[in-house]
Amino acid sequence: MGVKVHFLLEDLLVEAPVGTPLLVIAVGAGADITFGCRTCSCGTCRVRIAEGLDHCSEASPEERDFLAGLDAPPDQRLACQVVVQGDVAIEYLGL
Ligand code: FES
Repeated sequence: MGVKVHFLLEDLLVEAPVGTPLLVIAVGAGADITFGCRTCSCGTCRVRIAEGLDHCSEASPEERDFLAGLDAPPDQRLACQVVVQGDVAIEYLGL
């Protein structure tokens, strides 16, 4: 069983196994997402979860702290931290 991930900026729709990290899906799909640290410290992978926020893994305390420091609204996440558990639509924001 797979999940559908829609990268809105490119209008790119891909399928992936449930439980795949969003950044892995993005890189595999060739979506335009910049990333660096993969450890909640650079923010370059920030995305808006336009649909399916409840299909994303819970944010860790580290991710929550980083996003709080940016005053990011609750629909923003770090693609390097999100594990996709259902269909989502994503808009890349960056820092
Ligand atoms: S790659 Fe640095 S916060 Fe995600």
